[in-house]
Amino acid sequence: MLITLEGLDGSGKTTAWEALHDVYPDAVFTREPTESWYGDAVYRSMGDEDADALAELFLFTADHADHLSRVVRPALAEGELVVSDRYSDSRFAYQAATLEESELRRPLDYIRGIHAAFSRPPDATIYLDVDPETAAARAGATNKFERASYLRTVRENYERLIDAEPHRFVRVDATEPPEDVVEMVERSVERLVREHDD
Ligand code: TMP
Repeated sequence: MLITLEGLDGSGKTTAWEALHDVYPDAVFTREPTESWYGDAVYRSMGDEDADALAELFLFTADHADHLSRVVRPALAEGELVVSDRYSDSRFAYQAATLEESELRRPLDYIRGIHAAFSRPPDATIYLDVDPETAAARAGATNKFERASYLRTVRENYERLIDAEPHRFVRVDATEPPEDVVEMVERSVERLVREHDD
């Protein structure tokens, strides 16, 4: 089973993902961007204010393709539980926002289309919902994606994804204290795994 964690920067997603390691010691914990050289290329692009947004989409997507074939698909084939800190929805939400002013007419649909051809959709996605102002303040704006106005568009994109597939998403209020957020995520994963096994 593939469970993904999504949300704005500063939503507490990575803290929750780390806490799940103790609860599911046998699961495969992974993340995007990955630690491969494709991931290094992605971070290099993110650090460049002048990076071409379309080129950046393809770097993220290349990293995803490698992640799928090297980590996600083999683990799922072995029947493992895979928990990924960010996955395809991050592309749909973030790159659709960076490409909003581009020549693409419907960036979100375009990016979903690219993924539909080769990706493996998550079985369930836990969305850590936080307002863009809190997210930007918590994240400390260490990269170009962490500005509040940009995160507002990213959040709207996440909402569009949830509207399109309400059954795949579990929404967690990430404005709550971190320990409560972790607990809500743990309870959600427990329920999802139980329902999947039934
Ligand atoms: P992180 O906050 O989970 O470490 O993610 C790093 C940044 O990369 C974060 O600002 C979101 C961004 N990102 C994208 O823009 N598109 C993607 O597909 C992924 C995986 C991350």
